[in-house]
Amino acid sequence: MNFTGKLHTKQLSTMAYPALVVPVFDDGALPKEITEIDKAWKGALSRALNEDVLTKSGEIFIVPSPLTKGIRRVAFVGMGSKDETTIESVRRAAGTAGNALRKRDLRSICYLAEPFVPDGEDLASTCMALIEGARLGTYIFDRFKSEKDKQPLEVAELHLPKGVNTKELVGYVDRAITLTTSTILTRDWANTPGNEATPTHLARLALNVAKEADLTCKVLDRKECEKLGMGAFLGVAKGSQQAPKFIVLDYKPRRYKKTICFVGKAITFDSGGISIKPALDMHEMKGDMGGGIAVIGTMRAVGVMKPSGVRIVGIVPACENMPGGSAQKPGDIVKTQSGKSIEIINTDAEGRLILADGLEYAVREFDPDALIDVATLTGAIVIALGYEVAGFWTEDESLAEALKTSADSTGERVWQMPLVQDYKEKLKSEFADQKNTGGKWGGAITAALFLQKYVGETPWMHIDIAGPAIPDKPNPYRPKGASGFGPRLLYNFIENWLEK
Ligand code: BES
Ligand code: MN
Ligand code: ZN
Repeated sequence: MNFTGKLHTKQLSTMAYPALVVPVFDDGALPKEITEIDKAWKGALSRALNEDVLTKSGEIFIVPSPLTKGIRRVAFVGMGSKDETTIESVRRAAGTAGNALRKRDLRSICYLAEPFVPDGEDLASTCMALIEGARLGTYIFDRFKSEKDKQPLEVAELHLPKGVNTKELVGYVDRAITLTTSTILTRDWANTPGNEATPTHLARLALNVAKEADLTCKVLDRKECEKLGMGAFLGVAKGSQQAPKFIVLDYKPRRYKKTICFVGKAITFDSGGISIKPALDMHEMKGDMGGGIAVIGTMRAVGVMKPSGVRIVGIVPACENMPGGSAQKPGDIVKTQSGKSIEIINTDAEGRLILADGLEYAVREFDPDALIDVATLTGAIVIALGYEVAGFWTEDESLAEALKTSADSTGERVWQMPLVQDYKEKLKSEFADQKNTGGKWGGAITAALFLQKYVGETPWMHIDIAGPAIPDKPNPYRPKGASGFGPRLLYNFIENWLEK
């Protein structure tokens, strides 16, 4: 996971990069920064642009150097029209170019940063986007393959115009590296199969993250959870041979005015339990820890960047949902810590059960100013918003605004959904305080309403990431498999919310 970002303002013709990545827009013009190289290359670059290079976004064209020293190749990456270029298109272009060069076994490349800057944006956010695209776009998950693919990029250099104060930009590059490291951690764990990524392993990871990022970490085992009365969480864990772990990561600066709690669903494998899922695509449920691991990734970023004046706690109930002989059954009634009873109608609606205990624990232990849960909670949200957009629910405007602003800058898209209180009726149970399912229609909304019962008066937001955590399609900075959705969105959210 080693990765370095470097900033340079040296004269290009004196550099010896393995590859220089240069954007081309639909006017096909050669960026003025490389006219000097074009001359030294006897017009090879301008000729290529006149003849061959396609400039639509997603396209790439590599021109090898005719010289024996200096830059070895120029990779033109198509951007489409300059007017329509955004920070997100910079991320994608950086990913496209990075990955094309990774496949040629290059580990170190340089981006010509300035001409990438979109209208109305600055060099700092462009630099961040280039680093993000380069690093996330060249990610591979080949741990279980005996034949290894070409390895990810290790160095992304950013070439900047003369006179730019690189010292001012270093912080942005570091930030991008921290956030991409967290994203990669999230990807790795959501991609890791259930036989390896067990709750016990996840707890060990959290302890390691805590050590590395200077956080405190507490892991409650089954007995301790029993003592606290976490009947909803333990009910889900009952059918599995794997011991449940209730993970708490705490970032607590000496002085703080606000406390934020994140609660993330970590079902390390969701078979559905006794209400077992169909076999088709069941293997994808190894990624049902997407919310929990996004919270651990976010906490890692928090520990590294140390925001001031705020305590941040990450709570991750982790277990397997399996149909063992001692599994909970439809019709069973369980109780959360506060004694609220739940009738289990469908054992496959398990995420909300473990979150109920997670949310109550957060409120009781930390009395937070903001409480946010993140989960791959429902198939219904994927039907509503597809794979590219997470749904969120809140009655608190400041939380909603902070999240939307974050999504605009990180490209991890969200859409606010309604808490339709009339639908609470669907959760009424004959025998308990509520049922764990509210029927087919509006299933993502009834899941949110279910959770709301456990947050009391605490300002709360629920984010259902079932779509974007495990998207159906790759994009240039997101290969197939787990996307690592969450840490970038949530870290920026924290900062936005604190600024209010
Ligand atoms: N983990 C699933 C939700 C899910 C579905 C995540 C698809 C990612 C992709 C969750 O535990 C689940 O099974 N939800 C059920 C709820 C239903 C039984 C009320 C669902 O959505 O079908
Ligand atoms: Mn389920
Ligand atoms: Zn699930």
